[in-house]
Amino acid sequence: MFIPFIVVKMQDYQDILSEILIDEPSLQRRIAELGDEISRDYQGTDLLLICILRGGLVFMVDLMRRITVPHQIDFMAVSSYGAGARQSGGSVRLSLDLKTDIRDKDVLLVEDIVDSGNTIAYVLEFLQTRQPRSLKVCALLDKPDRRETPVPIHYRGFSIPNKFVFGYGLDLDEYYRNLPFVAVVDTKKYHPPE
Ligand code: IMP
Ligand code: MG
Repeated sequence: MFIPFIVVKMQDYQDILSEILIDEPSLQRRIAELGDEISRDYQGTDLLLICILRGGLVFMVDLMRRITVPHQIDFMAVSSYGAGARQSGGSVRLSLDLKTDIRDKDVLLVEDIVDSGNTIAYVLEFLQTRQPRSLKVCALLDKPDRRETPVPIHYRGFSIPNKFVFGYGLDLDEYYRNLPFVAVVDTKKYHPPE
């Protein structure tokens, strides 16, 4: 018996990209600078990098290899409600908690992008209750025009215009996170999966 099923065929990234906003060498150069800065600032501390999944993954993997001080890593995930998959905003909820006790640790959050600011604001408030020694934010990308909730960004990779981007950890409907650069989507050419 033939059971029909639907195969989601995602378009090739070349067909939906309007421009490469930040190419691979520029990303790697900036991440090396951030790694140097973090290594200087965190000498003699008990550094814990916390990757906010899933967008922060690729950035974290490159950044941690540019940090020369001893440190630990952990992961957490949050989901937002009241917003479509491709928007941010809405209310935020924890969906994966840390394994590490962060009390008295020097915590640095590693995030792909700060957009409305709601995600980081939630995570900062939540983690603060666990009494880390310090708590700071490192974001690869910052879209300041979209801010709804003011949040501190202690280490910022790039400030970018208000355009939807993908690649280097950032997704378009959960695909294309593997691309080694940050690209802008051409909304006229991209057809989201059903
Ligand atoms: P915020 O809570 O509005 O700051 O949203 C942050 C989250 O929304 C990020 O961690 C991303 O997962 C997602 N996001 C915001 N802008 C973009 C984008 O341009 N491309 C892909 N994901 C984005
Ligand atoms: Mg994210």
